[in-house]
Amino acid sequence: DQIKKVDRYLYAMRLSDDQLADISARFRQEMEKGLSNESNATAAVKMLPTHVYSTPDGSEKGEFLALDLGGSKFKVLQVKVSEDRKGKVQMESETFPIPEEFLNGRGTELFEHVAESLKSFLRKHHINHTRKALGFTFSFPCAQSKIDEGVLLSWSKNFKARGVQGNNVVQLLRKAIQKVGDVDVDVLAMVNDTVGAMMTCGYDDQNCEVGVIIGTGTNACYIEEMRHIDLVEGDEGRMCINTEWGAFGDDGVLDDFITSFDREIDAASINPGKQLFEKMVSGMYMGELVRLILLKMAKKGLLFRGQVSDALRTKGTFQTKHICLIEQYKGGLENTKEILEDLGLNPSEDDCIAVQHVCTIVSFRSANLVAAALAAILTRIRENKKLKTLRTTVGVDGTVYRTHPQYPKRLHKVVRHLVPDCHVRFVLSESGSAKGAAMVTAVAQRLASQRK
Ligand code: BG6
Ligand code: GLC
Repeated sequence: DQIKKVDRYLYAMRLSDDQLADISARFRQEMEKGLSNESNATAAVKMLPTHVYSTPDGSEKGEFLALDLGGSKFKVLQVKVSEDRKGKVQMESETFPIPEEFLNGRGTELFEHVAESLKSFLRKHHINHTRKALGFTFSFPCAQSKIDEGVLLSWSKNFKARGVQGNNVVQLLRKAIQKVGDVDVDVLAMVNDTVGAMMTCGYDDQNCEVGVIIGTGTNACYIEEMRHIDLVEGDEGRMCINTEWGAFGDDGVLDDFITSFDREIDAASINPGKQLFEKMVSGMYMGELVRLILLKMAKKGLLFRGQVSDALRTKGTFQTKHICLIEQYKGGLENTKEILEDLGLNPSEDDCIAVQHVCTIVSFRSANLVAAALAAILTRIRENKKLKTLRTTVGVDGTVYRTHPQYPKRLHKVVRHLVPDCHVRFVLSESGSAKGAAMVTAVAQRLASQRK
């Protein structure tokens, strides 16, 4: 029947427990490679020091501005953190569109657009009277030698502005703010979105020591022992590491799991050969993966009685949000029919069932892969602490995790299955990464004033 046919066609995407354990072990090795001095230069998984030393302890307070750049939305925010921890964090935010030409244009123009948006936010909310501390969430891999510096190692996802790679983005932002004028802010901290998510959840749950993003891109951070971080001096205490797990596989270690569809996605992307794990997992690619599969199956006569439409042949016509609609418990089948008809196809009921199953296999593979990598991180934390069983909290964010009807449930289940000795509480980072960025900024501000 339909399900079996799809299962057979996509057998390479259905990962067994043994395969997941194998992938998890490989990720463990990649983490070690990235942390060690001898192998870091050639490591695919970069394991970047973040210079964030602890999760929030409740002493953070004040009024902060935040910029959140690199996810599906660019936001400017104001975050007010009151004295008592159980008291409230108030946030106001505004989303600003980034026109396509800024993504592929000159970096200076991209940052001027960011600064202009900040300026217009300040005007609108009348926040111009006192100098404000600002935290910058920048969701790309950066080499940080301190909290207010970050050299962009490479763009990922849909960003590729010129003249930013190899430069300190905090400096680019400060320059743009100066050029735009009339904006009285101190850029005190820069964090990856995973770190922002972990800190956001860490404000309410002191056990939170991992942050995961499954959105446009995918990535994770966690708290590591300083003695294991070769790139930073000192052996005492702990520091958050931004794994940049999206690049897992870029050195070939996942080659036996990469299918012809993944290769096709990679070849047509703006960064071929890069972010291979991300391309199998995240929202920017999952929809396109399904489209390529449907197209191939139709051409082989396995779907739509061999019918192919122009829309189905066109890159980007099928998106991850469609997978979410198709996998809805109720109404999923009707959604499938509508979506396929919008693509100019004329599906039978059997076609719809088959397409639903294709979506399930692709999104389930994503959850499985994330679970395998996360299991490696959890095991590492457990061993670092020399514990038999670990209790910990993982802060999660990103549109795939937020909007896919079954994704969270599947992810939790597979993680529990892979690492039964780790009792994990998963918390959605409700208010996004900016709240956490504000917490990091609060600490940076306190340290800066102590130095004065
Ligand atoms: C948001 C964070 O909540 O999640 C962003 O504030 C982050 O910083 C994002 O990049 C990830 O999700 P997406 O789906 O927007 O890429
Ligand atoms: C990409 C970026 C990474 C970010 C992730 C999620 O993988 O390289 O820094 O955390 O997307 O937004």
